[in-house]
Amino acid sequence: MLRVAALNDVSRLENDTFLRALLRQPTPYTPVWIMRQAGRYLPEYNATRARAGSFLALAKNPDFATEVTLQPLARFALDAAILFSDILTVPDAMGLGLYFVEGEGPKFERPLRNEWEVRNLFVPDPSEHLRYVIDTVTQVRKALDNRVPLIGFSGSPYTLACYMVEGGASADFRLIKTMLYSRPDLLHQILSVNARAVTAYLNAQIDAGAQAVMIFDTWGGSLTGAAYREFSLAYMESIVSGLTRTRDGATVPRIVFTKGGGAWLEDIAAIGADAVGLDWTVNLASARARIGDRAALQGNLDPGVLFGAPERIHHEVQNVLAAYGTGAGHVFNLGHGISQHTDPDHVGVLVDAVHDLSRSYH
Ligand code: CP3
Repeated sequence: MLRVAALNDVSRLENDTFLRALLRQPTPYTPVWIMRQAGRYLPEYNATRARAGSFLALAKNPDFATEVTLQPLARFALDAAILFSDILTVPDAMGLGLYFVEGEGPKFERPLRNEWEVRNLFVPDPSEHLRYVIDTVTQVRKALDNRVPLIGFSGSPYTLACYMVEGGASADFRLIKTMLYSRPDLLHQILSVNARAVTAYLNAQIDAGAQAVMIFDTWGGSLTGAAYREFSLAYMESIVSGLTRTRDGATVPRIVFTKGGGAWLEDIAAIGADAVGLDWTVNLASARARIGDRAALQGNLDPGVLFGAPERIHHEVQNVLAAYGTGAGHVFNLGHGISQHTDPDHVGVLVDAVHDLSRSYH
């Protein structure tokens, strides 16, 4: 009885092209969403952020976070919404004290600098320390009213560890690489806690209604192949295997994205994720040939293309679609987050071009 009601709920999704493409099922066109689609390139985002007072105040208030999650969908015909939050909410919930310095990006008040701090690291309870994120997921699902699916997300254990150890952005990763090459046991301890924290966090998002989840591995590409497999990929694999597979009778697809991971696509495709995110340095045709039917692909337009004129954006969209070729299994996206200096009208050009030009490939 319950199950039938739940199935009906899923089939009510007005636009399920994104979920279908992730599962390599046929769609009439290629679905598209944009990494960082809610952000500073949108004047309405900046207005809400000003009302909230700061980025963190915005992200920690479910009403504001819901509002900005929906803003890009009101402007563009996007095929998915992504929860408005940040990957660094997890280390913040572990007590590291996240803050932002204007123009310098994220920082931690208490980075992990000695063995004692690493030993004391704990897995935060998402329903307690990350309640505001879970509440946002619930509110966004209500507000979306089944128009498009909602993506939940987290950082990868290694990418989170980079910020936790460095204390902020880093040009050379000196501190985490010192740990990796001198005290790998300590780094493994951090990664193991992070992997358990991310698994619980993503499952809480799925429980609250996230219909797909994505793991952002922004810094895995800074490692050697061997170190990538040992310190980043292995932990993403453990997360993927611990995620809730179905909710309300529907499969919850998982996407893994390692920026700069183009050399290791076969390994990435083997960890059990439904889709692999690609940056723009990878050719989609060769990526598809290498991965075959093991996973769908997401990407991979250079975000810099959006600085070009509309005709050029059309041309570059066409190139990405042609590189993937015909058939199911492609979700269109940028190869990394959109720049804050992007003209919002160019995003509209991109989204409409993907929808128009992709029909002939399906
Ligand atoms: O895609 C979306 O629309 C969802 C929102 C989202 C944000 N951050 C909002 C945000 C997502 C998915 C993220 C992920 C994230 N955060 C990553 C992984 C993806 C990537 O881009 O590599 C990383 C590494 C972070 C850490 C982080 N948070 C950085 C480096 C910054 C500063 C960026 C900058 O340009 O200053 C943030 C802040 C942040 N997260 C902003 C947004 C919209 C800008 C904050 C502001 O409004 O001032």
